[in-house]
Amino acid sequence: MENTVTATAAAIEVRHLSRYFGATRAVDDISFAVRQGTVFGFIGPNGAGKTTTMRILATLDHPTSGEAEVAGFSVVSDPEQIRRRVGYMPDSFGSFSYMSCREYLDFFARAYGLRRSARRDAVSRTLAFTGTEGIADKPVDTLSMGMRQRLCLGRALIHDPDVLILDEPAAGLDPRARIELRGMIRDLADQGKSILVSSHILTELADFVDDIGILERGRLRAAGPLADVRRRFGGKRVVELAVEGDSADVAVWLQNHLDTEEITCHGDHFCFICPDDSSEIESDLLSRLVAAGFRVKRFGIRESSLEDLFMDLTEGEVA
Ligand SMILES: Nc1ncnc2c1ncn2[C@@H]1O[C@H](COP(=O)(O)OP(=O)(O)OP(=O)(O)O)[C@@H](O)[C@H]1O
Ligand SMILES: [Mg+2]
Repeated sequence: MENTVTATAAAIEVRHLSRYFGATRAVDDISFAVRQGTVFGFIGPNGAGKTTTMRILATLDHPTSGEAEVAGFSVVSDPEQIRRRVGYMPDSFGSFSYMSCREYLDFFARAYGLRRSARRDAVSRTLAFTGTEGIADKPVDTLSMGMRQRLCLGRALIHDPDVLILDEPAAGLDPRARIELRGMIRDLADQGKSILVSSHILTELADFVDDIGILERGRLRAAGPLADVRRRFGGKRVVELAVEGDSADVAVWLQNHLDTEEITCHGDHFCFICPDDSSEIESDLLSRLVAAGFRVKRFGIRESSLEDLFMDLTEGEVA
């Protein structure tokens, strides 16, 4: 058989996973799956529990309760098997003074037990794939952020793992470096690798992931194929409004007259998602605002974007 991977098998399967730190429920009963050969975007604001989940999946921490399987092995009972099959890119680079990029990769190849020619091949292949051949002999502590992230991705790839767990790989990258990173992650999925990648920013991942999970304060607010999540939670209408004068008055008025919880304000510019049964509110909102004495500078209704979806699904509190 050319391909032993079945279409339905999950590369990562998380079931009712929780991790508490004292009273903090960093991860609180989450379940999701990363399908073979696909990219799963794990999105959430600061403190949502992304790193905690990823560390458990990389077998660097234990769940308080629940279970997770990576490449078919349990994180609780079979961590050694998982380590051979998983590449983990942490959210911090660590301190590696006096080491060149080649030595850095060689160090991790040794840690994975690769010997001589296999190690040399792995280092060359990784330098080539991540586009770091030209800086192979540069000290790692002199690298730009973009090159450092490439090298860190290389470190996760050095033992040719089936599953990749990448914690905020795009953090600190400029737009071009982000696009290049995205291309590399997509190439890896096309090679058959299964990838869990985190970010704060939904739109940063939405262009290239197959599935998403939106996490907030340890809870998974939505998960599944991007198109399904967009269909289920998207398609809403967003009102954008700006008035002259004191915007505090209009904020109070909106809160008193509209059945919507999420009203965001940027200077004099308000933005909120219409409640589901709001066609009536929409149609006469402008005239009611004018009748209430507000001098409306701008008023518009548009379809919700992915950013709105994220704002709608999360409550914006930082843990
Ligand atoms: N070792 C720890 N001890 C105590 N609390 C912890 C520990 N690790 C994480 N936490 C807490 O767990 C929660 C989730 O943190 P985590 O780092 O997983 O979030 P995150 O989604 O990765 O956030 P960020 O986007 O800032 O990286 C936070 O409230 C954090 O303070
Ligand atoms: Mg984190």
